[in-house]
Order: sequence, then C-alpha cells, then structure tokens
Amino acid sequence: MKPSILSLALPCIIAFAACNAPANKTTTNTAMKDSISYGHLPPDSAFEKIIDGKQTHLYTLKNKSGMTLTMTNFGGRLVNLLVPDSAGKMIDVSVGLGSVEDYIKSTERYYGATIGRYGNRIAKGHFSLDGKQYTLATNNAPNTLHGGKKGYQDVVWDAKKQNDQALELTYLSKDMEEGFPGNLHIRVTYTLTDDNSVKIDYEATTDKTTVVNLTNHTYFNLNGEGSGTILNHSVQFLADNYTPVDSTLIPTGKIEPVKGTPFDFTKPETIGARINDDNQQLKNGKGYDHNFVLNKHDMKMPVALVKGDKTGIVMEIYTEEPGLQFYSGNFMQGKNTMKYGEKDDYRTAFAMETQHYPDSPNQPQFPSTVLKPGETYKTQTIYKFKTK
Ligand code: BGC
Repeated sequence: MKPSILSLALPCIIAFAACNAPANKTTTNTAMKDSISYGHLPPDSAFEKIIDGKQTHLYTLKNKSGMTLTMTNFGGRLVNLLVPDSAGKMIDVSVGLGSVEDYIKSTERYYGATIGRYGNRIAKGHFSLDGKQYTLATNNAPNTLHGGKKGYQDVVWDAKKQNDQALELTYLSKDMEEGFPGNLHIRVTYTLTDDNSVKIDYEATTDKTTVVNLTNHTYFNLNGEGSGTILNHSVQFLADNYTPVDSTLIPTGKIEPVKGTPFDFTKPETIGARINDDNQQLKNGKGYDHNFVLNKHDMKMPVALVKGDKTGIVMEIYTEEPGLQFYSGNFMQGKNTMKYGEKDDYRTAFAMETQHYPDSPNQPQFPSTVLKPGETYKTQTIYKFKTK
C-alpha cells in the first residue's frame, strides 16, 4: 500500500510545528546537574592504546558554529557530540565512556559504535546464501546480534582525518570473520557539516556473495548524558508500519500497521507515554526495541524527529535505509560509569539505528541485504541537530 503524499508530508509539518514550541528555559537550567561539565572532552591520552597490534586514538571534529564531535577508531565509535541547546549552552548528547579502557571493560558493548557486518539480529545464528549454510556465534542467545562475538565495535579501524570536519574509517573484514563469507572492504566517513549535521557515508565491496547491514549505535540523550531518563523526549517517525517480533526479538515476518498501537509515532508522542502499556510487543521488546518500516527513505524529509524536553534540542534523521530500529535503553542496568561520572541507568539513552530489517537474510520478503562481488554497498544517514 503506497502512502499518499499528504500522509507523508503531514507528520513532518505537525512535528515541525510541535518542535517550534519555545523550550522551557527554567527547566533547562535547573534540571541539569551542576556537576556535569558538558563541554569537557576526555584527554586524547585516554584513547591511546595498542589493541590487536593497532594504535587507537581520539579524533576531534569541529564545525564553524562550534559543534564538536569526537570519535575513536576503536570500534569506530562516536564518543562526544556537543550540540548547542536553545540557550546556546553546549550539551553532550552522546552517551559514552571516557577512555578506551572503559569501552573495553563496559558490559554494554555498543556505545557509539559502527556496527557490522550485520547490524541487529540473525535468527539462531544461521542463514544460507547460494545454497550454502553459514553458522554464526549466537552471542545474544539464541540469536546473533550486531555481527557476532567480535563485531566491528571491537576492532580497530584505520582512521584518516580528511579535514577538520571529516574522519574516514576503513576496515577489511576478512573472509569468514565471525562466520560471514567474503573479504569485505569497508569505508565509513563521518562528517560534521556546518548545518550541525553528522553525516555518515557507508561503503563496502566484497569478493564473495555476502550479507551486509551496517549502522551506527550511538546512545543519545538529547537532554545531555547523565540527565535522567529519556521518557519525556518526544518522538515522531515517518512510519505507518513496523515489524513485530517474537520474544527473542526476531521479526515474525509480518509487516503490521502502527495505527491504534503504542507504536504509532506518526504524530509526536513522548517515549514514556505508552511504554508500559499492556501490549505483547512491548513485553517482547521489554519496551521499544523494534524496527519501524519507513514510508520513504530518500533523504528529502526526515524519517524521525526527536526532541529533548529539557534542552529543546531536536534531532532529525535522514536516511537511505528502509528501516529504523528504535531501542529505548531497556537493557541498561546502571553497571557502567559514563564519561561525566553518571551511571548508565535504565532508559537513560535511546538508539535510533538506520538499517535494513532484522533477520533479513532469513526473511526473503524483506528488502535484501545481499552484496555480490562487483556491486558496491553505499548508503547515507544524517543526524541533524536544531533547537526549537
Ligand atoms: C538492540 C537491543 C540491544 C542493543 C544493545 C539494539 O540495537 O535492538 O536489543 O540490547 O542494541 O546495545
């Protein structure tokens, strides 16, 4: 069923109106803990280490308006993302850790990371390609999650700063690494543009038929890392449908309308408004941990709008990917101490991972994730920041 132009444009128009509401500055200033110094970047030395014989570093990108992004090549991770709030104060909206050691020790593996070879889940660690069966590690029993035991979040990427605003990461994922066929040459370029966007360009080629689903796993809190739960953030998606899941978070194969369910974010709604509803899908996900089927993904209009209630920071997502995994931090357990000293408590961050649908290698009715020799995997996602 094709959505009408009006049904596509309307949510954005409504959202922009909603996001235009003036931010509550009193809340902004009093609710932020004084102890959190949002402009403070970790020292570069905290990211210097040799892992698997390769040197890790912290790289800093800065745009003309002072927005700052830091990344480490350990896992291709976004560490800091300093964005101006509606009062002009810099807020770190990327929830992350303060050193490479902390990322190694963290019980949560995916903070800020570039994810692959297959972002999201593959059922029971099996898929077949060209009549051949492949077996992967079931690191998220009974399934494979985010590429297996040692996904791209745990490898050291080669990094090259192209200029003050762009970092190119490359990685050769060898044939049968984590059980996936084909030498996969990957290039991911993170660019901080002058319109306060983080642009991510993914590219990959293979020498054997394989499956690829790359994404970024930044945990966002638009009120700032350490500022409490994300339940009062408002969210809107350009998605009339989603892919329901079983209790192990594998899609049932159906594409179902969000209408009349707690998954209807076609109009702005807070994350917390319905998250505890008596709904089997919310029970399966332990909250939101679902793939939204995007009505359109042509970079012309945002597929998602998220607003931090305390800061007025709005994040728009543009993508060429057909799906968006919305994860509301349901497995966060306060076990790690983050870069400003706060714990990563339950639902204090969310992820919005642009990607193909979970388990696509086993679900032929979903858009294909197969990459063949001679083809180039190429996809772009933009996270754009504004204040309203
Ligand atoms: C998954 C969650 C998982 C999280 C780990 C998300 O992409 O959907 O189920 O717990 O990643 O960081």
